[in-house]
Amino acid sequence: MTIRRLAVSTGGGDAPGLNAVIRAVVLSALRRGWSCVGIRDGYNGLLDPASDPRGGLVALDRDAVRGLTHLGGTILGTTNRGNPLRYPTPAPGGGTVERDRSDELVARFREERLDALVAIGGDGSLEIAHVLAGKGLRVVGVPKTIDNDLDQTVVTFGFDTAVEFATECIDRLHSTAESHQRVLVVEVMGRYAGWIALHAGVAASADAILIPEIPYTIERVAEKIAARERSGRRFSIVVAAEGARPRGGGLTLQEPAAAGRPERLGGVGEKISAELARLTGKESRAVVLGHLLRGGRPTANDRLLALRFGAAAVRALAAGQSGVMVSLNPPEVRYVPLSAGIRRMKTVPVDGDTVQTARDLGISFGD
Ligand code: F6P
Repeated sequence: MTIRRLAVSTGGGDAPGLNAVIRAVVLSALRRGWSCVGIRDGYNGLLDPASDPRGGLVALDRDAVRGLTHLGGTILGTTNRGNPLRYPTPAPGGGTVERDRSDELVARFREERLDALVAIGGDGSLEIAHVLAGKGLRVVGVPKTIDNDLDQTVVTFGFDTAVEFATECIDRLHSTAESHQRVLVVEVMGRYAGWIALHAGVAASADAILIPEIPYTIERVAEKIAARERSGRRFSIVVAAEGARPRGGGLTLQEPAAAGRPERLGGVGEKISAELARLTGKESRAVVLGHLLRGGRPTANDRLLALRFGAAAVRALAAGQSGVMVSLNPPEVRYVPLSAGIRRMKTVPVDGDTVQTARDLGISFGD
């Protein structure tokens, strides 16, 4: 079946580079004589078009994607609360339950005469793409996350920008830490993986890096700070992934999971800071970089990767592929089945060379 009308959606948390993917998809599609339509806010634009006064779909012509490559965010909007497989719906007896609306979504694609879809998103969005492909839609996925926790691709766009910004922030925090002889705990995003914390922590010469893959003992971190103190280094920088947890302990949550909503991590930096103040007797502060890591201009690396992913997704559809996602396997972009892409999360290998490098540099993991 020839493609005439291509849909694009962005789902999950925003990440620098999403707009560059949209631009590459649209320009590559227009060159092939296809028209393009963006779905607003994940799939909400199809499932609940009335909820947006601008309508649920937006025409994406040449003009709509001018000057987008360097812009953070997504011109289509996104959501991590509207998963059509687990859509939050008011329950008859009160409260909210999850409902599978994927059949309805497939029907809406047909009604709108959308022949194919490029689904850009993280594990949740790629799972939806996989289900839609199984129900007969032509779908190619584009993996996205600043967390870099998607298996089957060496890296995702957004990660480099997040690491670059976190590194700059930690560099800046060094001066306050040193001037005031304080402990500074920097909490970074990353969900259940420590990629951002590890890469930014090593690049910015942190003294301790706490990641979910290596549960920490707070006394070990305090010992590292005390050892620095004895050698005349009277300040310390600790980088903590939001998913860092003490040995034998659990995650620190802002909000537990609820219908249609995953749990929200956050707060471990404050907890670690208070414990270190108590154990070391030093003044300690926590800084949460949070959503700052998701915003701003994508780095040149992320722009290039995003553009390559977008163009490759359209080439895959043009070649008749479906049910696959693009992935980076340097130096090439390749295609892998969506089923493989969502099978497992990619965490930091604890015996990998980056962790080894950190250890060789004397950085503590609190273990
Ligand atoms: O997956 C990206 C991410 O930024 C995670 O690192 C973080 O845990 C989560 O999204 C936060 O999402 P939000 O605050 O948008 O619900």
